Amino acid sequence: MVTPDLSAMRREYGATGLDDSEAGQDPLALVDRWLAEAVAAGITEPNAMALATATPDGAPSVRIVLLKSLDAQGAVFYTNYTSRKGTELAENPRAAAVLLWHDLSRQVRLEGRVAPVSAEESDAYFASRPPGGRISAQASPQSQVVAGRAELERRWEQAAASPDAGTRPDEWGGFRLVPEVFEFWQGRPNRLHDRIRFRANGDAWERDRLAP
Ligand SMILES: Cc1cc2nc3c(=O)[nH]c(=O)nc-3n(C[C@H](O)[C@H](O)[C@H](O)COP(=O)(O)O)c2cc1C
Repeated sequence: MVTPDLSAMRREYGATGLDDSEAGQDPLALVDRWLAEAVAAGITEPNAMALATATPDGAPSVRIVLLKSLDAQGAVFYTNYTSRKGTELAENPRAAAVLLWHDLSRQVRLEGRVAPVSAEESDAYFASRPPGGRISAQASPQSQVVAGRAELERRWEQAAASPDAGTRPDEWGGFRLVPEVFEFWQGRPNRLHDRIRFRANGDAWERDRLAP
């Protein structure tokens, strides 16, 4: 296989802009609208977001998780609390996330602090997952080294046969990222993109525009 010429890859972005009146004063209303437009555009997994965490001494790590709810309380995703991200967040609750919708030339960045959701909220979401995924959450020691695929499958069979099959393990649940900063990026022609940032100030949001 020939390595693609990455330096020559270039896409011109569209004319759709993000002007101040469209941006409004409420980043939640804007992100809701952009999510709805991403869904309407048929984008695959429009709720996939890259989540960055860091160790207390600042070594970052990033991975994709699925955003499962977003409202004034924050952005919720589900994972294993003993995973790499889970342990990093337990020690350093600061996180950043980005949603990317290539086909709309848009990204949304979020920054803030993260805290576990209540056990009731995790239970409710866990119960909505298909049975096979519930068993995987019980069987998989996320981020630990395993001997091989066969070990994972053995663990899954064991979890499926256990009397607890399908119940939420204590180490699996939600985290809520409470955004202090949102940034909306809309790709524009000639790389003169729109960037609108909102920063929380008490109960209000301060909006400004950043150079692309
Ligand atoms: C599209 C996509 C969606 C994913 N969604 C989740 C998710 O919601 N929760 C999760 O824990 N991992 C999810 N993952 C797997 C993570 O990217 C990652 O491999 C896993 O959480 C372990 O990360 P960690 O070792 O940094 O904790 C997803 C991966 C992809 C590609």
